[in-house]
Amino acid sequence: MGGVAGGGYGVGGAGGEVVYLDMTKETFAPSLAMIEEAVEKHGDSVAGVMWVHIAGIIAAEFPEAVRFCHDRGMFMLEDAAHAHGSILNGKMAGNLADGGAFSFFPTKVMTTCEGGMIVTNDEHEDYIARSLRNQGKRGVNYGNYHEDFGNSSRMTEIHALIGSIQLQKLPKMLKARQEGYKIISKQLREAGISFVSADHMDAASHYKIIIHLPDGADLKETKAALAKEGVILGGGVYEMPCHVQPVFRGLAEVGSYPGTDQWCPRHICPPVTSATTPELAQYIGETLVKHLGAYMLATAGSPAA
Ligand SMILES: Cc1ncc(COP(=O)(O)O)c(C=O)c1O
Repeated sequence: MGGVAGGGYGVGGAGGEVVYLDMTKETFAPSLAMIEEAVEKHGDSVAGVMWVHIAGIIAAEFPEAVRFCHDRGMFMLEDAAHAHGSILNGKMAGNLADGGAFSFFPTKVMTTCEGGMIVTNDEHEDYIARSLRNQGKRGVNYGNYHEDFGNSSRMTEIHALIGSIQLQKLPKMLKARQEGYKIISKQLREAGISFVSADHMDAASHYKIIIHLPDGADLKETKAALAKEGVILGGGVYEMPCHVQPVFRGLAEVGSYPGTDQWCPRHICPPVTSATTPELAQYIGETLVKHLGAYMLATAGSPAA
């Protein structure tokens, strides 16, 4: 799910109002058509879009969505929290629009234990972002003069050191994930099991591999059956979307999100990490096919609607 930011008063330090966008089954991200529809509905008050590269997948349509935004004077920001090392059309995540943010939380592709990183090619945005993380003090200012409403979001040197070591290991960590994806996706495809594909990309982080739960399969039972064979699933990518979480109620207008409502509760993510060996990936893939393949055969064998 992504969101567009309007110009009214509401959530966030910039005073924007959030309008949720739905997501497609194929990408778990919005589509250009969804942005167009939101812009049509909300008009010139739409300031920009925050697009999530969920699981590290950059949708093939993303560059077109960026162009659409820019043509209308809107910004496009990339939530690249999952997308370290993801590349589409020769460009890395975080470098495809006006700016992006990466997460270095421990579960992510690389970590600094906590924290993250903002990236932008715009010098002024860079200057302001550095101020906002330093209590709104612009420039090299550790005194008491505040020009922006900032925060204390400074990374400690110890954590930065962990990050720079992780960065050196990143190619190796990505390779393990990419190899895992290659092995598992081949098996899924052969068994007719649907998943979110990264095949249109130059490279993907594979923070998660998203598999659509087949019709008839129960999430809890599937998780338990896989766990019995040692395939313990990691968390999914937002089983419960923001618009149904009570804490966010009232912060944004809630519309209809059929893709989100259908697929957030009905997907699984196999345990592929930076430490996954090809042998392990092969076993994970075989076990997934063993448990999910039966549903595909049942669907294929059922009379056409
Ligand atoms: C898509 C997405 N964006 C942003 C974040 C926030 O990252 P952090 O926990 O580093 O603030 C997360 C964290 O899980 C995430 O999954």
